Amino acid sequence: MEIALLLSKEHTTLPLAEVEAVLECEGINYHIKEEGEGLLILDIPHETPDIMMKVIKRLSFTHEAFQILLQNDEDKLISEMEKYPWKDIVKSDYAVRVKKMDKKSQFNTSKLEWEMGSIINEATPGVKVNLEDPSIFIRTILKDGKVIVGQRIGKISKKHFFNLKPHKRPFFYPGSMSPKLARCMVNLTRIKKGQTLLDPFCGTGGILIEAGIVGARVIGTDIDYKMVKGTKENLEHCGISDYEVFREDARKLELPSKVDAIVTDPPYGISASTGGEKSEDLYQQSMRSLQGLLKDDGRMCLATPHYLDLDEVLEGTKFKIIEQHHIKMHKSLTRVISVLTIS
Ligand SMILES: C[S@@+](CC[C@H](N)C(=O)[O-])C[C@H]1O[C@@H](n2cnc3c(N)ncnc32)[C@H](O)[C@@H]1O
Repeated sequence: MEIALLLSKEHTTLPLAEVEAVLECEGINYHIKEEGEGLLILDIPHETPDIMMKVIKRLSFTHEAFQILLQNDEDKLISEMEKYPWKDIVKSDYAVRVKKMDKKSQFNTSKLEWEMGSIINEATPGVKVNLEDPSIFIRTILKDGKVIVGQRIGKISKKHFFNLKPHKRPFFYPGSMSPKLARCMVNLTRIKKGQTLLDPFCGTGGILIEAGIVGARVIGTDIDYKMVKGTKENLEHCGISDYEVFREDARKLELPSKVDAIVTDPPYGISASTGGEKSEDLYQQSMRSLQGLLKDDGRMCLATPHYLDLDEVLEGTKFKIIEQHHIKMHKSLTRVISVLTIS
């Protein structure tokens, strides 16, 4: 089965890294056929659309995924459409939508939607068009003079990430991470449903919420009682009940058993809550304590500011950086997202 994914253009490397992490974590064999700006085409030999739906539901930097039905040069589209056995695919109400991904295409998108709709209509007598909420969504992509037509498998809900924005949760504190980035960081650790994830600098609980939604058991700690109370409130608000959140200093954290993943966003600069200690010292001491809490095959995903020398921080620990992504926040701050394993 060939699957096309429309990736977010918000970042150049995170969307693909996230898709690969989730496929790997779900045990799905795949081969990348094409990867271009905003579009990823995968060959997934042994899976069904249902399994792909599970993958899509976890993603944050992907817009939608569809199973490819036709792929050709633009000038062959109409004749290919006329030959295609639409009766086998379009058995109930449907819509056709066209997306131009560059300026090269000769087609006018609404005219083409109408033309494709007419061809399908003729081939499927009695089946109705439903532009509002169709059971079958035929997605067409125009890119580089080529056209891809597919049946949508799933769409990532923008509403979820919008409704869970930090200022919409019961407890808010400045410096909270966006739910989209939090979900992506959780995914980069390849955590599976039922496994345990720790955020030792949990703040308002944004990372724990996303991990809880993908089915992880979550443990959160923070040095500040206010954050501990607020995180619990936010988790309850999001319907997450399998959690443990308590006050602790990440530099001295001990747990009864090791966790499968750590995802965290430690404080930047000088942290008032650690008595004005420089963040490098805080990171170094925390990393020493956290290395003993992660299982040998576990992964840690860490957000740090660009000016922190992570190699120096990790010196003398068992952590090894295996992947890094840079997110420019503003002129003077780039966030570095690193994935670490235990070597
Ligand atoms: C950048 S915030 C985390 C934000 C969080 N990702 C969110 O979305 O709300 C860092 C948190 O680390 C906590 N913190 C600072 N020093 C700490 C320490 N030594 N141990 C544990 N938590 C600490 C702060 O109280 C703060 O809540």
